[in-house]
Amino acid sequence: MIWDSDIIKNLAWNGTISNLEAKQKVADKIAAKVNDGDIIGVGSGSTSYLALVAIAQKMKAEKLSIKAIATSIELGMVCNSLGVPVTSIIENRPDWSFDGADEVDPNNSLIKGRGGAMFKEKLSIASSPVNYIIVDETKLVNKLCTNFPIPIEVFPTALLYVEKELQKLGASNIVLRPAKGKDGPIISESGNLILDALFNEVPLDLERDIKAITGVIESGLFIGYNVEILMA
Ligand code: 5RP
Repeated sequence: MIWDSDIIKNLAWNGTISNLEAKQKVADKIAAKVNDGDIIGVGSGSTSYLALVAIAQKMKAEKLSIKAIATSIELGMVCNSLGVPVTSIIENRPDWSFDGADEVDPNNSLIKGRGGAMFKEKLSIASSPVNYIIVDETKLVNKLCTNFPIPIEVFPTALLYVEKELQKLGASNIVLRPAKGKDGPIISESGNLILDALFNEVPLDLERDIKAITGVIESGLFIGYNVEILMA
């Protein structure tokens, strides 16, 4: 039996999408890569949302059988609303994945996690043999932490310990990310708190050093991953 739900029927991206034209072009490039039988890791954010819509259109037009592994509740619900079958990363390994990013440097290192889904996003990218990062040119930076801090997902009771350890690593400003639409801090896709930490320098071992702090679940820093950057 299928739910007859207005919530699912009326799902749309919540808010306006910046740089829509460029994001749509790169979303269409992702849809063109879909083949029958693919298990696809689906990232989060507005560019990933547009790519998922384009994939669903192609899936229906060409009668393709695919499955999606969503990295956020939102994109999982969008799969439901578009009729894209979902699976989990426990049941299936992605053949390939796509995801957006907040910053991309000349070495293809990334900052992600504005959407608070960085743990599931990193699991998807680490598990997938092929990863496309879909961005418009506003995401390209010479140096990480130019426009965005590094989001760090923290087990709630470890918050103050992690703050102290991040200061030791050189974080110049650390903010507990507030929620919009709820009082207090935002809760991540995996049920944790998020600290946004600005660093003046992002050395190659910073991702490892952040992850080594007890209480850190994951960070939105991606250094040295197997990613291909796709632009409009
Ligand atoms: C969510 C992310 C997004 O991929 C990133 O924030 C880019 O978003 P958008 O495509 O909306 O610009 O990491 O956690």
